[in-house]
Amino acid sequence: MSDTRRLRLKVNGAFVERTVPVRQTLADFLRDDLALTGTHLGCEHGVCGACTVLLGGDAIRSCLLLAVQVDGQEVTTIEGLSSSERLSALQEAFHREHALQCGFCTAGMLITATAFLRDAGGQDEAGVREAISGNLCRCTGYSGIVQAILDVARQHAPSATAAD
Ligand code: FES
Ligand code: FES
Repeated sequence: MSDTRRLRLKVNGAFVERTVPVRQTLADFLRDDLALTGTHLGCEHGVCGACTVLLGGDAIRSCLLLAVQVDGQEVTTIEGLSSSERLSALQEAFHREHALQCGFCTAGMLITATAFLRDAGGQDEAGVREAISGNLCRCTGYSGIVQAILDVARQHAPSATAAD
């Protein structure tokens, strides 16, 4: 019989309490226990980035953490990035720029880019490419993804400074 532990955390703004096996990954907890299947599993050992979620605002690999390690913390998944009514600005930009094909990488890519845009704001193309270098996409060639992130960075960049 596997050991279990009571887990309390906040997921996409809602408090959640479950008893989980101590060896269950955060990714499996989100997908299997909470039915948040927008978080994808590819490599399951920290390489592809498909399982990326926000933990307290930082983009992390949910396949590399145990669910019990996030007890008491706050997790945001792709389902938490938009309301039922409206996509986020970044999701709109992905749609506009054709930044996805099969979509397998897209949730992780959006989460990584969301954290990047919040922390780094406006960046050049090289900065965007470096930011998403840990998220693998087999379909798009990355151009649309980079353009979508740059679009949002520019939308939210401060307008020209008074000194100029
Ligand atoms: S499934 Fe987690 S990094 Fe690939
Ligand atoms: S859209 Fe298919 S893996 Fe990125």
